[in-house]
Amino acid sequence: MSVTVRVPAKVNVQLAVGAARADGFHDLANVFLAVGLYDEVTVTPADELRITCAGPDAAQVPLDRTNLAARAALALAARRGIEPAVHLHIAKDIPVAGGMAGGSADGAGALLACDALWNTGASRAELLDICAELGSDVPFSLVGGAALGVGRGERLTGLDVGGTFHWVFAMAGRGLSTPAVFREFDRLAEGRAIPEPVASADLLDALAKGDADALAAAVSNDLQPAALSLFPELAGTLAAGRAAGALATLVSGSGPTTAFLTRDADSAAKVAEALHASGTCRTVRTAAGPVAGATVL
Ligand code: C5P
Repeated sequence: MSVTVRVPAKVNVQLAVGAARADGFHDLANVFLAVGLYDEVTVTPADELRITCAGPDAAQVPLDRTNLAARAALALAARRGIEPAVHLHIAKDIPVAGGMAGGSADGAGALLACDALWNTGASRAELLDICAELGSDVPFSLVGGAALGVGRGERLTGLDVGGTFHWVFAMAGRGLSTPAVFREFDRLAEGRAIPEPVASADLLDALAKGDADALAAAVSNDLQPAALSLFPELAGTLAAGRAAGALATLVSGSGPTTAFLTRDADSAAKVAEALHASGTCRTVRTAAGPVAGATVL
């Protein structure tokens, strides 16, 4: 008997970052949109906890207990007094260390899969609590759709979205560490007053209307200067997408994946082709959102 859960990637259409807090985290106003690029986590009973991973980036995925999928299984097992004797297999399609919450997706996926396998009867609220302990982006991977995350980004309010948005994602030749990007944000912010992060009313309105032009005018990412500072070549990828006709270009989360909003699926295909031909990135994918969060298949 095994259980497979499919979990989407995310793009942050707004990432407003406040000053560093005493605990080292930053208060955020983080508007997440789940997009149709997926990891699948399959859990099967085994003699002991074991992780395997397959996919183009599999070599970069840790297969020990630092993996968020393993940590999710261990956290749920500890709460329920269950032996975490399972094999977790991750079929990975979300870029690793890319700013698209691939690790968080695996954490949310493993949690939901183990919950179903062990039939724990955990409430949605308890699963969300465990997600928040695992990482700031993990609760969103569970719920999907679109949401505003405040606090570390883990306190979510679902958002209405009045249409489908079409995206192109350009994956870079190497990853970026999220803590390193936040440290660079702090370094660049030194000596400046950082305003409280707030969600943009125009952006929430654009999402509600499903209006791609209005969304393009409103997207923002306060981590983008820090990501570009650590990875200057990303400027070339953003410029190539802009030249190809993307409505908006931005770094996804802490990067280095770059995201390009387009008007429809046809324009996404054209921008993807131009980005591919530009030679400024490793691979290019198209995906639309919002899509559902972690789902048992
Ligand atoms: O929550 P998570 O473990 O995914 O965060 C990874 C790192 O990103 C944190 O250790 C911290 O350095 C940084 N971070 C932050 N503020 C947030 C979320 C993450 O500084 N709100």
